[in-house]
Parts: sequence; structure tokens; C-alpha cells
Amino acid sequence: MEIVIANKSHAGYAQYICDTIAESAKVRGTGIAKRTPEYVITKMENGNAVIALDGEKFAGFCYIEAWGHGKFVANSGLIVHPDYRGSGLARQIKEAIFKHSREKYPDAKVFGITTGLAVMKINSDLGYRPVTFSELTDDPTFWKGCQTCRNYDILQRTEQKMCLCTGMLYDPEKEEKKKREAAKSSGSEAKKEKTMNPKAFTRLKSIKEHLFLKKDKKKDE
Ligand SMILES: CC(C)(COP(=O)(O)OP(=O)(O)OC[C@H]1O[C@@H](n2cnc3c(N)ncnc32)[C@H](O)[C@@H]1OP(=O)(O)O)[C@@H](O)C(=O)NCCC(=O)NCCS
Repeated sequence: MEIVIANKSHAGYAQYICDTIAESAKVRGTGIAKRTPEYVITKMENGNAVIALDGEKFAGFCYIEAWGHGKFVANSGLIVHPDYRGSGLARQIKEAIFKHSREKYPDAKVFGITTGLAVMKINSDLGYRPVTFSELTDDPTFWKGCQTCRNYDILQRTEQKMCLCTGMLYDPEKEEKKKREAAKSSGSEAKKEKTMNPKAFTRLKSIKEHLFLKKDKKKDE
């Protein structure tokens, strides 16, 4: 398996990547921001994406988006082809794109919004913390990306305060400070904080679904 920074030579995979993302969203029955092959190609050409290939076969992908004039960076569009799931590939791709983002945008806060437990786990291990949407970028272009998600009406109804997705943020300044403090002490506190509780996320997600989707159902009746 080869995990590399994508470039224009990978443009031929763009349509297949978009189809795989759309198909996976359909299977999961969740909302997703739609991507076009043209958009994916731009990411590849600008060195803002990571692709995983098994020989010539597409295995996985993720890309970087910069928001708020580079103050924020998001690692979006993570996809692992169904044939390659369950063996740690998403973790490797996210680690690669995170490292690349930190090198390219060292001062930017790195964030993501997701409903996926796998992504929450990986993000948490990378040092992301769950935050309210108000701590994420207020760049309207980012939130416009949610328009193609089937849950967009929830985001509108809550005036962009919350949705089914959980916001997660890596704040380089805070994390560096924590690392310095942990180095001074035994480090046990830092370790304790890094451990994510998957049950808490699952519970939070089901509460939100119950609240928001129930309201939707009533509205339709
Ligand atoms: C989500 C996805 C990227 C995971 O890819 P993967 O290569 O199978 O993930 P990994 O093997 O690296 O697993 C990473 C961690 O998540 C966990 N995980 C993987 N899939 C999971 C799932 N469906 N539910 C809960 N946890 C899951 C793994 O157990 C692992 O945790 P661990 O290291 O604590 O054991 C892949 O299933 C996918 O592409 N799904 C469709 C698109 C999608 O949901 N993208 C995310 C949009 S935000």
C-alpha cells in the first residue's frame, strides 16, 4: 500500500473517488457534503490531498481545505474503499493528511465535522477535541458545503449552532502548551484526557438524532 501526497497524475481517480464517497453515504444512510471530480482534481493539483493506492487500485483518499484566510484547516472527504476497510488504512491516511496540514499550515487550527465514530476516534487520538460549532470557522463557504447534506435543514433551524455532526478541533497553541505541561509533570493527566469515550459519542449522536429527526418527522405529518 502506497500513501502519498496526490498530484495531477492522479486526476484519473477523481470520478471514482466521488462515486465511492456518494455510494458509501447512501449505504450509511447519512448526510454528506457532495464533491465534484473537478474539485477533487484541484485538490490533487495543488498538493492538498493524500491518496492511498494498492498498485494501481484506488484504496483511499482525503483532502485539505483552508478557511478563514488560512486560520482554519479542515481534513475532509475521508474515504476508504470498502475492499480495504477495517485494517487501519483510514488511520494512516488521516495521520498523513494531518502531518501534511501541520507542515503546510503550521499556525492553523485543524478541524472537522463528522457523524462517524471511526473518524472521531482517529481525530481524538491525533489531539482533536470536541467543540461547539461556534469554535469552528465562520467562513460561510465552509458552511455552504453542508447545503448538499440531507440534514442541512437542521443546521439552518439551529442557526448553525448544532447539527447531527460533532465538531472537533485541534488547536496547535493549546496542544503545544499541554505537551509542555505534560512533559513537566508525569504525563498521566495528558494521557487520561486523550482517551476518548466512544459510548459518550454514540449516546450524544443518538440523542441528537432523536431530537432533530423526530421534529422533522412531525413536521412532515
Ligand atoms: C470510516 C472509514 C473511513 C473507516 O476506514 P477504515 O480504514 O476501515 O478505518 P480504520 O481501520 O483505520 O479504523 C480506525 C478506527 O475506527 C474504528 N472503526 C472503523 N470503522 C468503524 C465503524 N464503522 N464504526 C465504529 N468504529 C469504526 C476502528 O475500530 C479503529 O479504531 P481502533 O483503532 O480503536 O480499533 C470507512 O469506513 C469509510 O470510508 N466509510 C465511508 C465514508 C465515511 O464514513 N467517511 C467519513 C466521513 S466523516
